[in-house]
Amino acid sequence: MEIANITTRVKTYIQGLDDNMQGGIPQGHVTLVCGSAGTMKSSLCFNVLYNEAVNGKIGLYISLEQSAKSLLAHMANMGYDFNKINLVVIKDLGNLKKEIDALKASKKGTIIITDIGAIRKEIRDINVTSANAGWLNVIKNVARKIKMDVGFDHFVLDSMSALYVLSKFENPRIELFYIFEFMRDLGITSFLISEMPLDNSKYAEYDVEDYLADGIIYLRLTRFRRDVVREISIVKMRGTNCNNDVFSFEYKKGQFHALYGGQNPLL
Ligand SMILES: Nc1ncnc2c1ncn2[C@@H]1O[C@H](COP(=O)(O)OP(=O)(O)OP(=O)(O)O)[C@@H](O)[C@H]1O
Ligand SMILES: [Mg+2]
Repeated sequence: MEIANITTRVKTYIQGLDDNMQGGIPQGHVTLVCGSAGTMKSSLCFNVLYNEAVNGKIGLYISLEQSAKSLLAHMANMGYDFNKINLVVIKDLGNLKKEIDALKASKKGTIIITDIGAIRKEIRDINVTSANAGWLNVIKNVARKIKMDVGFDHFVLDSMSALYVLSKFENPRIELFYIFEFMRDLGITSFLISEMPLDNSKYAEYDVEDYLADGIIYLRLTRFRRDVVREISIVKMRGTNCNNDVFSFEYKKGQFHALYGGQNPLL
């Protein structure tokens, strides 16, 4: 019988968190990154892709709502040095092969970002009648194509919530099951961003994602007197002995930190 490999782990690159989860997320896991607006969901996921790219890995970031331009402006402001990696923004999926071929000789790791416009164009071009089949199939095709052509290690979908707006699922429980299986079959480590309602009443839209996912990382803003602090917790991580406590979450000097128990960290 085949047993999932949980010994190889992908770091979250959040100082203080990886040590509390046996070194990181088991490779191949599908993890939901949940939080309300502005909780740094995109930044957390980009941070993993960036650091992995610095180590030579290839990551695919599909942004369905925020343009690549806006996303990269935010990341540049956070201080990421894009000279250390290959950064490919796919604006037209027709150019995908050319862009990917150019990467093959490179020794640097890569982040491939597909801009929303590219996917919208592809949907127009292939003239899909059912919106649902269109969006999902295009995302799957892009992932499959890149996997076959250059291979990739990590995948971010930003966001599931945007996908739901673009394509109404008729039978979410079944359709979502197949999306999660698709990602596991590709053998990639995936991060699915889920925008939570402001009252943080549920992790994802259909209440099944929590159960289908291998891991859930929960980000939130909490009021402390007149301050607002960021917090992070690992709600679940299959195959991992992890600390599920709530940590303070900070980004300082180009590094994310999860600070435990309100102690003053030695930064
Ligand atoms: N050094 C920094 N540079 C830029 N933004 C920062 C920095 N530190 C914290 N932030 C905050 O990051 C937040 C945005 O992060 P990000 O886009 O990752 O969040 P998000 O949860 O993906 O947001 P959205 O819900 O809009 O998708 C902003 O509210 C910004 O104030
Ligand atoms: Mg975001």
